[in-house]
Amino acid sequence: MTKKVKKCLFPAAGYGTRFLPATKAIPKEMLPILTKPLLEYGVSEAVEADINLMAIVTGRGKRAIEDHFDTSYELEHQIQGTSKEELLGDLRELRSKCTFSYTRQIEMKGLGHAILTGEVLIGNAPFAVVLADDLCDNGDDEGVLSQMVKLYDEHQCSIVAVEEVPKEETQKYGVIAGEFIKDDLIRVNDMVEKPSPDEAPSNLAIIGRYILTPDIFDIIRETKPGRGGEIQITDALLEQAKQGRVLAYKFKGKRFDCGSVDGFVEATNYFYEKTK
Ligand code: G1P
Repeated sequence: MTKKVKKCLFPAAGYGTRFLPATKAIPKEMLPILTKPLLEYGVSEAVEADINLMAIVTGRGKRAIEDHFDTSYELEHQIQGTSKEELLGDLRELRSKCTFSYTRQIEMKGLGHAILTGEVLIGNAPFAVVLADDLCDNGDDEGVLSQMVKLYDEHQCSIVAVEEVPKEETQKYGVIAGEFIKDDLIRVNDMVEKPSPDEAPSNLAIIGRYILTPDIFDIIRETKPGRGGEIQITDALLEQAKQGRVLAYKFKGKRFDCGSVDGFVEATNYFYEKTK
């Protein structure tokens, strides 16, 4: 029987040092683009992909995330029946379509380790991963995660979203190489975490959307620290890729690197223009 992707993991334990001092007391995932925190965009994208369990890996100082997706009785009572109420409409609708579960990452040992921390919430089923600081938009068309879930239904293997980046930027990303099996689909045979431009096997960079098969957890357990002394999901995925079990997908849509100030401002302007 084929399994469906029903859960989405959000690693959200990182410190967000690039946004200090803003992120000293506020989780970086709660920084807003217009009036919605980054994480809410990610949850919307998952709900649109028909995923209804959000598994969030948090850490110290991240309680605002739980509060955001909870009811705030006092506030909601206060604005009940006023024009302000509609400002909560989207969030309430989102909340009605999914459930949230949380676990904490005690030590920061890299993205692979954060994903492994989420195993307790995911169990033995394929799952999506969204890195909320990669904000994706595909206008009125299908979102990136939804595109990937459909591909998963067809291929039943791990899938990473990729886009072309200027060669001099490869050291900011996981970079893949492989064989094109369609215009937008590559069977991955190599992947390297944050290679320098001359080490990079291509200019196809992984962005923060993944579909992973659950055997990845056992692989991560065996994965040694890599780039930056951290346990990298890219290194774990390479093990699956060697068996031909990873696809890279050139998604349709726009992606903003909201982990950088430039990308954050660009996303703000883009979404602001859309409101007009
Ligand atoms: C992580 C991954 C990297 C990926 C990137 C996408 O890096 O390790 O492979 O390309 O996310 O945003 P980070 O940006 O957390 O350093």
